[in-house]
Amino acid sequence: MNILAFESSCDETAVAVVRDGRHVLSDAILSQADMHSIYGGVVPEIASRKHIESIAGLTDKALSAAGISKGEVDAVAVTYGPGLIGALLVGVNFAKSAAYALGRPLIPVHHLRGHIAANYIAFPELEPPFLALCISGGNSMLVDVRGYTDMSILGATRDDAAGECFDKIARVLGLPYPGGLPMQELAEGGDSTKYPLPRAKVAGNDLDMSFSGLKTAAVNLVHNAQQKGEPLDRASLAASVAAAISDELVPRAMEAARRCGHHTLVAAGGVAANKRIRGDLEQACREQGLRLYLPPLRLCGDNGAMIGSQAYYEYLAGARADMSLNAYANLEI
Ligand code: KG4
Repeated sequence: MNILAFESSCDETAVAVVRDGRHVLSDAILSQADMHSIYGGVVPEIASRKHIESIAGLTDKALSAAGISKGEVDAVAVTYGPGLIGALLVGVNFAKSAAYALGRPLIPVHHLRGHIAANYIAFPELEPPFLALCISGGNSMLVDVRGYTDMSILGATRDDAAGECFDKIARVLGLPYPGGLPMQELAEGGDSTKYPLPRAKVAGNDLDMSFSGLKTAAVNLVHNAQQKGEPLDRASLAASVAAAISDELVPRAMEAARRCGHHTLVAAGGVAANKRIRGDLEQACREQGLRLYLPPLRLCGDNGAMIGSQAYYEYLAGARADMSLNAYANLEI
């Protein structure tokens, strides 16, 4: 079954063709990161406009790279939330038009379910159940994945996402947007124990996380050093931030897996590309005897292939949308 999949929830326009959920025939992506970089973050209006400009051309590119004609598309899938509403609407409306014109079913896909499914592409043997650690620019959560379309949130951030934390600290350090990778590069050779940054304790659900205190502490540290004219060991600060974020995520992921009785842990989302977090997950899983799946870097960030993969399982479970499909900035997994 060939699924033509669209993703436009943030600043990547992505169109892919995926066969039977696991075989990527094409994966066309156009990142707008350079465009938003001068503003230090994504400008929603610009994101929507760039999606409109790119989506038709990318669709032609994805179909021709897949080597299939429009008639060989069996279903159309689209991210319908969560994300930037104007950006999502571009993908949703384009996908609705494509499904209508081709006379094919339309499958709505949750963005984070897509991030998790990126692992199905990379690891043919991977099947639910497992525990998923979803960490991206807009979300951070622990998900109990009981089946391909049966999942629930065990814990989530109460404030900022892990990616947002990296991005905002990167900004005050004068690094380009998105800041995750530049922060990682800056951290090379830094001492991750030099700056004692806070680790949050959250009242209530102890699997919930918090990153805003850490973000504020790091930003204040930079501003204080600047105002007093004191030297700042930027590499060590970047390394200390990565260690603090990892400490927020990794022990909670281990505890969540233990409580659910899962023996498999899956990482997903843009922040899952982070070296420190990947290393800490590897060590913790080795110690606790968990099998760990870390998506390859190209599948961590937003892409269309992950939407096409999840769409296959949504289709098998009976998910269909009609021409009234809307986009949602917030959407339960
Ligand atoms: O999954 P994604 O592409 O978009 C969302 O769905 O949000 O994630 C983007 C986030 C950004 O915050 C970016 O800074 C972060 O992923 N990121 C990283 C790394 N690469 C990307 N964060 C830490 N380390 C990295 N190597």
